[in-house]
Amino acid sequence: MRVLGINAIFHDPAAALVVDGRVVAAAEEERFSRRKHGKRPVPFSAWELPELSAAWCLASAGIDVDALDAVAYSFDPGLCRDAADLGLSDPWDWLRVDYARRAPQFLAAALPGLDPEKVRFVPHHVAHAASAGLAAPPAGDDTAVLVLDGRGEVASHLAGVYRDGRLSPLYSQQLPHSLGLLYEDLTRHLGFLHSSDEYKVMALASYGQPRHLGQLRDLVRATDDGGFQVERIDWSSMAKAVAAGGELAEEHADLASSVQVRLEEVVLDLSRWLYDASGGATTLAMAGGVALNCVANARLAAEGPYRDVWVQPAAGDSGTALGAALHVAGELGDRSAPMAGADLGRGWSEEELEAELRRAALPYTRPASIAAEAARVLADNGIVAWYQGRSEYGPRALGHRSLLAHPGDPDTTRRMNDVKGREQFRPIAPMVRAERFAELFDGVYPSPYMLFVHRVKPEWRDRIPAVTHVDGTARVQTVHAETEPVVAELLAEFERRTGLPVVVNTSLNTAGRPMVDTPREAMELFGSAPVDLLALGPFAVHRGALGGAR
Ligand SMILES: [Fe+2]
Repeated sequence: MRVLGINAIFHDPAAALVVDGRVVAAAEEERFSRRKHGKRPVPFSAWELPELSAAWCLASAGIDVDALDAVAYSFDPGLCRDAADLGLSDPWDWLRVDYARRAPQFLAAALPGLDPEKVRFVPHHVAHAASAGLAAPPAGDDTAVLVLDGRGEVASHLAGVYRDGRLSPLYSQQLPHSLGLLYEDLTRHLGFLHSSDEYKVMALASYGQPRHLGQLRDLVRATDDGGFQVERIDWSSMAKAVAAGGELAEEHADLASSVQVRLEEVVLDLSRWLYDASGGATTLAMAGGVALNCVANARLAAEGPYRDVWVQPAAGDSGTALGAALHVAGELGDRSAPMAGADLGRGWSEEELEAELRRAALPYTRPASIAAEAARVLADNGIVAWYQGRSEYGPRALGHRSLLAHPGDPDTTRRMNDVKGREQFRPIAPMVRAERFAELFDGVYPSPYMLFVHRVKPEWRDRIPAVTHVDGTARVQTVHAETEPVVAELLAEFERRTGLPVVVNTSLNTAGRPMVDTPREAMELFGSAPVDLLALGPFAVHRGALGGAR
């Protein structure tokens, strides 16, 4: 069966193509449209579809629109209720629902030849759940699944269990109670962009003390039926509101810390309830925007009852395109295959990359090993724009569209944040050779998608200061030679030169822009930022070769 998944309702519009139960392509619209997060999550934008990524998914697999068996849309307007009845103040929500109802016609217009009858609505949280429960590595027994986000049709949470590829929902928390909306509200109060900058709040939290935890324990609490309650919170009583981009003080870090810790506690409570209700499932799979909170994930993995915790790398709404498609493929009789990696987006052949370099008239070489060449530049404390293979699905750069640097220089954080033009409190993360992980870090292993924080062992903190956060943690990506041979070779070469099995890895983009997707965008970034080497597939472009000063 051929099923195209579509996420379009709130933010991070995306498309995914599932053929015979296997994800063959998935991409976020922002990588094509170059609009960060694709669109703002307002009702007026709900009609906009991920047209470019959907068309690319089909073209990349050589599938015509009329050969699709179904299109899965990750929101079911039939479940919706009046926003006021849900306790939401969203006076235009009816418009969102109206657009969703018409999605089959909008899709038929966007994908000429599509029969609108083939469009199926998948409940938002079922799509999130499938992106976790059906895409996770096989567990050997039942997989518990926990979805937490801002909102879907009428809920903000789903706890359930996958058994033989079928979801049994156990509890769903109804709106207006929402841990995702709670975090979004805080994000707004701290002067950041909600539905976008929540990860900045998480980073800020590590600088604060949870002074308001007692109060928040009263206001935000799990209930004994598997759900939770969030009371109305007067943020200003705990820290004054910050204007957009305004100055942050200790009180703001303390507030962020308090909410972060309370979120962790409630997520733990929910996961324990689910463990009991699922009859002791050994694996927990998670999705929904809250599951991008890698501090909470790490705590859940460490203190929760599960042997394994797996998080969908596209845990935010983009992942519902993949989940909706997997869910409908299952309904049509296909057995889903776990996803092998997040490199599901666009890629270019060596010939195409070389043609782009020639067109740009850039002086390039083809070293015997691009990994060794990049390792040499990194060992000299240079910055490398690393562009290899297919682009990542989800918000993390995982060694395909990455900016790399030396972890041993304390000044690397400032230089990288300068290249990217972003706040200095933002940590940068390490990638590490899988076989060396245990020597340097404590925490969840394997961690190929950077969705958990780890503890840096004390004896290593001074050796890799650039990636050791103020609280002694690091958000680690483990690199496995079987799945990422070129990155593994780079790490091995870097270690041979420096004794460090770790390289700094951050996303290949500049502030406010989506990650680089095409070779041309990679060259544009290289041309405009102090990057020493562009490693474009097997080709190398050195800053020095351009004749510029470093
Ligand atoms: Fe969602």
